[in-house]
Formats: sequence, structure tokens, C-alpha cells
Amino acid sequence: MLFFLDSAKLDEIEYAIKNWKIDGITTNPKHLMTAGMKMDEFIKKIKPMVEGTHITVSLEIDPHLQDPEKMIEQARNLATLSENFVIKIPATEPGFIALEKLAKENVKVNMTLIFNVLQALQAAKLGAYYISPFVGWKEERGDFDKDFIATIVKAVKNYGFKSKILIAAVRNLKHFEEAALAGADIITAGFEVYKRGFENPYVKLGLEIFCDAWQKIQ
Ligand code: E4P
Repeated sequence: MLFFLDSAKLDEIEYAIKNWKIDGITTNPKHLMTAGMKMDEFIKKIKPMVEGTHITVSLEIDPHLQDPEKMIEQARNLATLSENFVIKIPATEPGFIALEKLAKENVKVNMTLIFNVLQALQAAKLGAYYISPFVGWKEERGDFDKDFIATIVKAVKNYGFKSKILIAAVRNLKHFEEAALAGADIITAGFEVYKRGFENPYVKLGLEIFCDAWQKIQ
């Protein structure tokens, strides 16, 4: 399973690449806003950080776009900027039309805002590179489905599609467990979710106990 960082904050990205050997970055307009960066500025800074590595960066097209041709044009332009870029297209009807054409041109598309099996299968059939079900968004809105992750993974894998399932909007370690047990290809989570996972309080407690014992046997 690959681990992606869901962030546009360059300090977080730098830290995660260096210390956690993160495999990819996912961004969206909200992440750029939080990081206080325009898309152009982000692209300029992220390119040298990832080029020549296996790290992909998912960049979202303007969410206002409704016309497939305009979506395609913007996606193409972004994709030509780096081989590491994967273009996020929303799972709307125009988005699926755009996906089909872009996939035929070998543009890597991350189909984003996936909330059901129909969307996931359509994305797979039309050649999405990544399919991003947003697990946290459903739960936060009371649409809790304990089998959501497993269902999407199984449905897509049943038919041997090449698309990779990228579990997104991950909020906690339970989501990591569910994604891993379901055989999801990738997970993307925010910086704090990883931090909480790596800095388990029992590890801290264990180290205190062992340090104490170590001192006593000197
Ligand atoms: C993933 O590609 C999305 O950017 C992300 O997971 C959306 O969730 P969030 O912005 O609510 O964390």
C-alpha cells in the first residue's frame, strides 16, 4: 500500500518526503487556500521536490468548469508540466466525458469526489489512473457505511481494472485499517493523521519504562 500526504503545505510535504518516505501528494483548492498559495506558485515549488522520483502530485482543475472540453484543456495543460502530475477531475457527468478523452491521450487522471460504486466503476471503465473515494466526508455528514471502503475496493477489483483505489479524506487510523484490510492500493491522509499514528502514546510510555530499566542496570 502506498501512503500519500493530503496537503499543499510545503513544509509538511518536505517533512513527509524526508522522514516518512511518502509516495505521493494529493491537493485540492481547499488545501491550496489553507497553505495560502496559488496553483502556479505551488506548481513552481513542488516540481523540483518530486521530479526524478516516483512521487506523484495530484492537482485539481478549476472546480467551476462544467464543459468537458474546458476541463480537458486545463487538464492537458497541467499534465504537460510534469510527468509526476496526476490531474484531479470531479466525478460528474462532464467529468466522466473528460476522463474518457484524457485517458486515451495517456493523461493520468485522479477521479475525485467518489461516493458510490457506480461512480467508482465508471471511473475504472473509462481509464482513471486513481479513483478517490472520500471516506471522511460521508461519515462527517452522518452517512456512515461501515463497508464503504471494502465495497468500492471489491467492486473495482472484481473486474480486474487497472485503476488504483486511493482512499481519501482519511481522518483516523481506523480508516487506515479498513483500507489496508480491503486491499486498497493507496491511502491519502493529512499530516496530523500520520503524526498521530507514528507517535503512538504507548511507544512513549514504553520508552519511559525501558529508559528507567536501562538506568537501573548500568
Ligand atoms: C484527496 O485527494 C482530497 O484532497 C482529500 O482527501 C479531501 O479531503 P479533505 O480536504 O476534507 O481532507
